[in-house]
Amino acid sequence: MSFTIEATTEKLILAECAEMMSKTEPWITLQRDLAGCMEAMLGNYKEVYVARRNRELLGFIVLQMQGAFKGYIQSVCVSPDAQGAGVGTSLIQFAEKRIFLVSPNVFMLVSAFNTKAADLYFRLGYEKIGTLKNYAADGFDEFLLRKTIGSLKNFLKNQLYR
Ligand SMILES: CC(C)(COP(=O)(O)OP(=O)(O)OC[C@H]1O[C@@H](n2cnc3c(N)ncnc32)[C@H](O)[C@@H]1OP(=O)(O)O)[C@@H](O)C(=O)NCCC(=O)NCCS
Repeated sequence: MSFTIEATTEKLILAECAEMMSKTEPWITLQRDLAGCMEAMLGNYKEVYVARRNRELLGFIVLQMQGAFKGYIQSVCVSPDAQGAGVGTSLIQFAEKRIFLVSPNVFMLVSAFNTKAADLYFRLGYEKIGTLKNYAADGFDEFLLRKTIGSLKNFLKNQLYR
């Protein structure tokens, strides 16, 4: 399937992403309503990238580029009709290229019950580095995942010589 990936800050497109998210697992089970999903699109140091075929929204990814886990994939979502066709993989690989310019680590959370998504992340090189018990709600654990290209020290040294 051919599609483009580009950054957006347009409120209408962000609202379309929030709507897609609110109607998709795992957020249905986690009871994240439309307002909560819209909130997830906004905020300092966030970057939103959308995958589109012509004008049709296929999926999106939200990055948090500052904070303790700088280079954090906060949300990735592909429309149910477009799942399984490589869009999610492309969005994640696009995000990794962006994050590895400024940090040697990509972090993300995956719900313990979201085993299909976790399988994809493990295949893409993510490692489980911890469990956040009862995180989103009581009874719902999240796994913290990390993909790395090296230590902070080496990364900073290489940045100096670029
Ligand atoms: C997880 C998700 C982003 C993956 O994107 P995708 O475009 O469907 O995935 P790709 O086509 O690049 O890769 C396919 C692989 O993704 C995984 N996958 C996870 N959920 C899937 C789904 N609902 N449908 C198809 N594949 C899925 C499988 O490992 C699959 O590999 P397989 O075909 O060998 O089983 C997407 O399915 C999605 O948005 N799911 C619902 C929301 C979600 O779970 N987001 C992640 C929150 S951490």
